[in-house]
Amino acid sequence: MDKSAFEKRESIDGPMHASQPHDSAHKHVTGAADYIDDLPEPAGLLHGTLGLSDRAHAEIIAIDLSAVTAYPGVVRVLTARDIPGANDTSSSGMHDEPLLAESKVEFHGQPIFAVIAETREAARRAARLARIDYRDLPHWTDIDGALANGSPLVCEPMTLKRGEPESAMAGAKHRIKARMRIGGQEHFYLESQIAMAIPGEDEEVTVWSSTQHPSEIQHIVGHVLGVPSNAVTVNVRRMGGGFGGKETQGSLFAALAAVAAKTLGRAVKFRPDRDEDMVATGKRHDFLVDYEVGFDDEGRIEAVDAAYAARCGFSSDLSGPVTDRALFHADSSYYYPHVRLVSKPLKTHTVSNTAFRGFGGPQGMLGAERMIEEIAYARGKDTLDIRRANFYGQPGSGRTLTPYHQEVSDNIIHRIVDELEESADYRARREAIVEFNRSSRVVRKGIALTPVKFGISFTMTALNQAGALVHIYQDGSIHLNHGGTEMGQGLYTKVAQVLADSFQVDINRVKISAATTGKVPNTSATAASSGSDLNGMAAFDASRQIKERLVAFATRKWGVSAGEVQFLPNRVRVGHDEVLFPDFIRQAYLARVQLSAAGFYKTPKIHWDRKAGRGTPFYYFAYGAACTEVSVDTLTGEYLVDRTDILHDVGRSLNPAIDTGQVEGGFVQGMGWLTTEELWWDAAGRLCTHAPSTYKIPLASDRPKIFNVKLAEWSQNLEPTIGRSKAVGEPPLMLAISVLEALSMAVASVADYRVCPRLDSPATPERVLMAVERLKGMA
Ligand code: MTE
Ligand code: MOS
Repeated sequence: MDKSAFEKRESIDGPMHASQPHDSAHKHVTGAADYIDDLPEPAGLLHGTLGLSDRAHAEIIAIDLSAVTAYPGVVRVLTARDIPGANDTSSSGMHDEPLLAESKVEFHGQPIFAVIAETREAARRAARLARIDYRDLPHWTDIDGALANGSPLVCEPMTLKRGEPESAMAGAKHRIKARMRIGGQEHFYLESQIAMAIPGEDEEVTVWSSTQHPSEIQHIVGHVLGVPSNAVTVNVRRMGGGFGGKETQGSLFAALAAVAAKTLGRAVKFRPDRDEDMVATGKRHDFLVDYEVGFDDEGRIEAVDAAYAARCGFSSDLSGPVTDRALFHADSSYYYPHVRLVSKPLKTHTVSNTAFRGFGGPQGMLGAERMIEEIAYARGKDTLDIRRANFYGQPGSGRTLTPYHQEVSDNIIHRIVDELEESADYRARREAIVEFNRSSRVVRKGIALTPVKFGISFTMTALNQAGALVHIYQDGSIHLNHGGTEMGQGLYTKVAQVLADSFQVDINRVKISAATTGKVPNTSATAASSGSDLNGMAAFDASRQIKERLVAFATRKWGVSAGEVQFLPNRVRVGHDEVLFPDFIRQAYLARVQLSAAGFYKTPKIHWDRKAGRGTPFYYFAYGAACTEVSVDTLTGEYLVDRTDILHDVGRSLNPAIDTGQVEGGFVQGMGWLTTEELWWDAAGRLCTHAPSTYKIPLASDRPKIFNVKLAEWSQNLEPTIGRSKAVGEPPLMLAISVLEALSMAVASVADYRVCPRLDSPATPERVLMAVERLKGMA
């Protein structure tokens, strides 16, 4: 390593809290970043494709794959019978998700067989030649169908209850009972699902998988092959986006690639195209929220009673924890004195829905914001005033207890909202908009300022752990590995910053390496926004152990006290001497100091009793608020987002540039969910919106015309998280609720704000137009 790089400097690049660029940013934009399909292909690589069901619910009577097998280039066709271990890729432990369907199919698009061929093209063409005879069974694909047919639940529902909701509701001066429909969402990661398996000797197999959860892929591949986990190594350098869609859904491709690779003794790659990926993998759950809210003249909530029905698809997957998190966020930022919340995770004959940024939280929060709107329109008030009247209070106010009996002890929502109201000039702009709408015949405007409070931790306590492996080599360069995966969110950069800061070296001395189950075992999914909280601390723990040994070595060698050893930028001060970091490391090596450590972290304080509906599931809360202004054409329903102002809390930011990117990206993704992204299944249960031609994610031109995004620089995590930072991955998605509510206000203007528009999501132009027409009829 170039020694001049270690010359005496007073500060270093890339310590914690600096806007260090994403380590791969330049590679993402130049095409130099290696995704799995870019890796050099092993000699003799074969390509796999899926054979999918074209019935929503049916018994399989007969499968004739002779034409598939005979197709030129086809090497092997795999069915359930060819699976050496268990035909089970269930992540929930409920064994309700076969890798390949055996005797019945439960959704249109369910994998029945896999074709392995010399080329991807041959595999795809051959797959179409299958002849499958079915006997149809009754099917339902949506929540209404599930309710009408008394559909079973895919897992145990949850209830959260506090106080006396029945009597408080009965005693409330005002009551409103209604329902809200909330749409699902396709992840639309730019890199589709993909896996490549390379067989090794004996039972061994190495799998490259685009997954947020290497340890689960390892476990499922082992289970499907019937081999122990120690025979399976799973690697992932980066994903081209995951957004929750690669938390469990990668196992289908990884498991099939591994089975084919071990069966044939050749490397096998599965890369579905966009349509296949959209049909065969799960999405965000859509919800139907039935709510009743009781409140007083001031618009203060007295009781809430609500049920959250979700379309879960044919298996449990993550539907239990997702619907739980909907209930955990059904309070948004508001104190409910008496409350009952129940989840209904409904089975439907559709692909199994899964994690998606926010993990049910957005759906829960959206229901709460609808109740606020109901109250505001019923009382003839500004929604922001109703919000303020219902915010959680400060400790001691008697208004701090959540429906799950956790105290909100770090509440900063008042300050966030105050500052945003001021900087966005909310009051004056709202007045001007009301004035504008009075005289504008066609174009109507709306504005809304909505809060975010998001609980940070996996609600399953055991998942809140992480490991890291740190080596320092003799030249002073550092190798970093941890249990987290990189999906564009900048986790690897942040954890490298933690190490660079701890050893006081430039960040380019830290080599970020691919997540691999061989180096850090038993990892949790990189999910629940907790990647940097958990892995940052684990890496810090590893660095602490190595530094302790280095300090002990220095005290022995130079005869100084531990207090006289100091890590300075790229060098170490020992008494009055200063030694360049690489020289110091070299001397430690010669003195036989162990320069490698495995770090570990587990989140303190949290616990959760799901049966009782009580506990402290979250270590802390992340807060934020957004103010959005829109213009709606009331003749067509089309709209524009004119301006959005955001103030978001990331505690003391580990990297303001990356965090700001997360806030902007999360907001825009949330906006897509609530406006243009609509999933649509036909009567046969076929997903009709299976490509960008029919499924509309936001374009660059859809972003707010004015977009002011700020981090709350004064905020610090009250808990001792890494650098006092807070998680940032998911919470900003919910800032987009301001867009839906601004649209709602513009619609409400056609009936002079006397009627709550009850605008469901996604608020496509079509749905906005229908709401306008409905309200015109009421005006
Ligand atoms: N940002 C990018 N660019 N790509 C992604 O796939 N996933 C989101 C969020 N931000 C995602 C992203 C989701 S769903 C989560 S849970 C977090 O990142 C996970 O990473 P973290 O825990 O390191 O924040
Ligand atoms: Mo994120 S939905 O927790 O992967």
